[in-house]
Amino acid sequence: MTTVQSEQDVIELLLSQHQQIKALFTRVNQSTGEQRRDAFHELTRLLAVHESAEEQVVHPAARNDAGDAVVEARLQEENDAKRALSELYDLGVESPGFDERFAAFEAAVLSHALHEEQEEFPLLRTKTDPDALVRMAGAVRAAEAVSPTRPHPAAGENPVANLIAGPPLAIFDRTRDAVRDWRQAQKD
Ligand SMILES: [Fe+2]
Ligand SMILES: [Fe+2]
Repeated sequence: MTTVQSEQDVIELLLSQHQQIKALFTRVNQSTGEQRRDAFHELTRLLAVHESAEEQVVHPAARNDAGDAVVEARLQEENDAKRALSELYDLGVESPGFDERFAAFEAAVLSHALHEEQEEFPLLRTKTDPDALVRMAGAVRAAEAVSPTRPHPAAGENPVANLIAGPPLAIFDRTRDAVRDWRQAQKD
């Protein structure tokens, strides 16, 4: 079977997002002021896209293969991350307490991603039909449609104007609803 770029499967997409998430943590850590706010916002949007697709599509599929305990642990970590992100947003990137809490958040998110890569994705890869994994990538695209991971490249546009606005919980909710609608449409 030939594979084109648009047929990247859900695991390949999520793994590449893990790399983008790591890079965004570095950008937040290495920037200040407006750039730091933008990097933090972009991290929020990407995490909303990524974790919504995992929560709605990947973890349910992995339940049979990886077991309930593994999946529940990942869902709990994702909820904790959502709360931590909200607190960081309320605190603001300029706050004196931000760096220390952001470092703890980064460690938790990267450890979460490593667990997925080691315990969940390999099982999903061996036990799930490759075509189904390609179809599941649609969940990530549905999430991205609400909350694009990159600013629109149109010339002359301020990238920030394209960012979905609002606090992290609102962004997560809207993104999750879009993935839920996509998932529902698959069943119809
Ligand atoms: Fe996750
Ligand atoms: Fe992940």
